Amino acid sequence: MLSKRPPMGFNTWNTFGTNISDEVIRTTADAMVDLGLLDAGYEYLVIDDCWSKRERDPETGKIVPDEVKFPNGMKAVSDYVHSKGLKFGMYSCAGTRTCADYPASFDHEYLDAKTFAEYGADFLKYDFCYKPDFANGPLLYRKMSMALKASGREILFSACNWGSDEVEKWIRSTGAHMYRSTGDIFDAFRSMKEIALSQIDKINYSAFGCFNDMDMLTIGMYGNGNVAAKEQEKDFDTYYKTEFAVWCMFGCPLMLGGDIRKLNEFCLNLVKNKNFIRIDQDEECRPPFIVTRCGESITFARVLSDNQLAILCVNFGERDEYGRIYFENLGITAASGVGLHMKDCYTGEDLGVVREHWQTRLAPHDCRLFICDLA
Ligand code: GLA
Repeated sequence: MLSKRPPMGFNTWNTFGTNISDEVIRTTADAMVDLGLLDAGYEYLVIDDCWSKRERDPETGKIVPDEVKFPNGMKAVSDYVHSKGLKFGMYSCAGTRTCADYPASFDHEYLDAKTFAEYGADFLKYDFCYKPDFANGPLLYRKMSMALKASGREILFSACNWGSDEVEKWIRSTGAHMYRSTGDIFDAFRSMKEIALSQIDKINYSAFGCFNDMDMLTIGMYGNGNVAAKEQEKDFDTYYKTEFAVWCMFGCPLMLGGDIRKLNEFCLNLVKNKNFIRIDQDEECRPPFIVTRCGESITFARVLSDNQLAILCVNFGERDEYGRIYFENLGITAASGVGLHMKDCYTGEDLGVVREHWQTRLAPHDCRLFICDLA
């Protein structure tokens, strides 16, 4: 079964946009292995938009890789990725052209799925630009899902319609394994916050088999690359820590978008943090719920396997705020005498057993993530 847990990997779009190549993919594959990211769970290496020639081959009707970017063809790239123990991902779109105006799969679903299978693809991201007005969105995703299943390979289907047509209500039925639920992220706290807050009421639809994808992570981009923001971020590291904590708390796919080959120590340690990843990948795949809201500070809790709980306090605001946990809101009554043994996932600090309520001062954009045992 694919997508038993939220998929993890890397996608080229955030950093590279159109500047992708055989070399970018090979050096990224090397880095994913050498830096321990594959060991940490990041197994998919996905090529996003802009990989093909501008038109299909007139004779075969197939999409053809750009010969300058990929002089050895796509199978050679895929073979290299596989030789490193990674899985290989491709990109197409449900409309007539991709978002960056390359040929897309409308009316060519079965041929393209077969082509991706010939490349040895294990993953397909499927976008939503240039959809003819008369076409039915859900049916387009059903078509590509079936085409992939008929291709003879097991291919993870990553739908990307940005939350259109109330996607969360039907996408699971198409056979997709993950679905983009929002517009595109850009490298700013403001964008990450908007995406996260928009999914709080929808995250219940996300579970094993088909996960809510809040977009590729921006960790490590520091204002560079293809999705750079206009504004200057004050404190990238705090924002990246909170982004990763929120994605893990929401149980989203963890698709890295920063240039892996250049990740600094802070970002590398962050995305490899075992406690954060343990929460993201928890086998029960439960959604979080809101425990307490104070101004722009929100505390989330999530029931994990092994009688554990994850708790995340986030300050989404621009001033210092308190992150608060009221145990009654968790369902842990004062009368029960039950407490929580809290451990900080980031610092490793053991807070001991806490009862009834707890609070911490949080700087703007900062967060604290805990794994707790009932005690
Ligand atoms: C859309 C998607 C992005 C990316 C681009 C490529 O905007 O949402 O994630 O794939 O297309 O053009």
